[in-house]
Amino acid sequence: MRFACYLLLAVFVSCGSGQEPAAPGVGGSPADREWWKELIIYQIYPRSFQDTDGDGVGDLNGIIERLDYVQSLGVSAVWLNPIYTSPNDDNGYDVSDYRDIMADFGTMADFDRMLVAMHERDIKLIMDIVVNHSSDEHPWFQSARSSRDSPYRDYYHWWPAEKGTPPHRYSLFDAAGDAWKYDETTDSYYLHYFAEGQPDLNWENPELRQEVYDIMKFWAEKGVDGFRLDAFQFAAKDTTYPKFPDDLDENFIQYYAMQDGLHDYLREMNDEVFSQYNVMSVAEGAGRNFTEAHELVDADRNELDMAYAFDGVDVPKYGGYELTEMKRVFTRWDSAFAERGWLSIFLSNHDQARMVSRWGDDTPNYRAASAKLLNTFLLSMRGTPYAYYGDELGMTNIDFDEISDYQDIAAINGYKKAESQGKDMEQFLTELNFTSRDNGRTPMQWSDSTYAGFSSAVPWLPVNDNYATINVEAEDADPESVLNHFRRMTALRNENRVLVYGDYELLVPDHEQVYAYTRTLGEERILVLLNFSDEAATVDLPGMEELGEPLINNYPKFTSDNATVELLPWQAVVLR
Ligand code: GLC
Repeated sequence: MRFACYLLLAVFVSCGSGQEPAAPGVGGSPADREWWKELIIYQIYPRSFQDTDGDGVGDLNGIIERLDYVQSLGVSAVWLNPIYTSPNDDNGYDVSDYRDIMADFGTMADFDRMLVAMHERDIKLIMDIVVNHSSDEHPWFQSARSSRDSPYRDYYHWWPAEKGTPPHRYSLFDAAGDAWKYDETTDSYYLHYFAEGQPDLNWENPELRQEVYDIMKFWAEKGVDGFRLDAFQFAAKDTTYPKFPDDLDENFIQYYAMQDGLHDYLREMNDEVFSQYNVMSVAEGAGRNFTEAHELVDADRNELDMAYAFDGVDVPKYGGYELTEMKRVFTRWDSAFAERGWLSIFLSNHDQARMVSRWGDDTPNYRAASAKLLNTFLLSMRGTPYAYYGDELGMTNIDFDEISDYQDIAAINGYKKAESQGKDMEQFLTELNFTSRDNGRTPMQWSDSTYAGFSSAVPWLPVNDNYATINVEAEDADPESVLNHFRRMTALRNENRVLVYGDYELLVPDHEQVYAYTRTLGEERILVLLNFSDEAATVDLPGMEELGEPLINNYPKFTSDNATVELLPWQAVVLR
């Protein structure tokens, strides 16, 4: 839907190739080269990527089939959402067998072929490890709930009913918001921070911890290249179960994250697993402040490689966001990690609505320009970028009206909870339409054929109606598409280490339309100019009288007069 033409400036991207890295910093500075800092990670939601067996659900053979495409994106790693056996209460984030593949997705033989096929293309594989909780169908839990004497009883957290009602614990996905579920067989409550089908594992138990390390070794032995630890900042709990203040539900992270023991578990995991294999590690959540984030990732602590914080993706709300706030948040995180540690950069994932709908403008006029701008940001910041499948096309939110349209447990139980609290349900649905995770989970749009080429059967979640124009086939053929812009940006980043390691400096912090910054490494300097608005913008950049040539531009022209730059709506320009 983009109307303008673009100058194809990909020729410039080779200018920086072959450049040597900065002299290694001392004591874990971000400039210390590491392979995982140089990755561009592409996140695939396997349910929605490509179906090959005609059941409307994506599968591993589908991923194999599309690996040439993935390689063509210029990305260097794939993070797969969980693919283990699961009853799918939360689409695989409820694992019932950590050493087998979900039947919907295929077999272990398919997995082995997929991994070989990725490595043949120099694509690394990062597995999602879900061990804050298991599924209630996991044999450990089945045994644990059968008797108080089960050898697996202490793999989970229990509150015996003879002690009375347990102190309130908030659950993110429970229809009543209650993280304790009464279980009749043993007359006890079990703890579930997420849905009731996701009982929390007891990390205080050394046997459970060893089981988890063995599971991780199983996958590391297969040759996977990294682990993303799901919800891990919640793994340690205060099992004296104090009564928490009344603001628990609104501020649960303050009470749940980074409890005593967590660092011990991570150091042990590092010792047992990360240090024994050439794997990278990232945990979901980065604690409650910068100090805690550093305590997770500083190189000398031997815990994790990189932090993954939510402040950034929390900026856009239903109703909009202030660009100055976005700049503040990303800049604060960058400064906190300027000397030590390493960050992940992302604008979306499977827990968010679509990037262009939240951060950009998904109406026909500016969808393509704003999606290009957002990908320019993602791929020009310091930190390891995570691109979410479909965002390279500018895929948008889907328009669901009824609660029955949704599949996500967070949406369905959130609805029940709001209803029981007497909330305005029309308003609830309007907001859900914008924020729901299902927005970001609709099938990949490959072509304009039936079901967007995703499947031959009715997909598990509807394809977005706009697949007729927003799809890989159409965008592949259009040099000015969002897709080809994404490829130019990955090429630029892959060939210019200044974009990986260079210092980040924010310019014009108070400008309400323009996000401008430089990246500098030794003699090299890159300037990024992004107009985050539907209006043209003018910006003065004192000291930038000699602007170089645009390396990337999502419009055919770029207007500047000395240090005054004019940017068209959603214009994104990268200059050397
Ligand atoms: C993480 C996952 C999310 C999941 C939750 C429970 O936040 O990213 O998708 O629902 O953990 O496992």
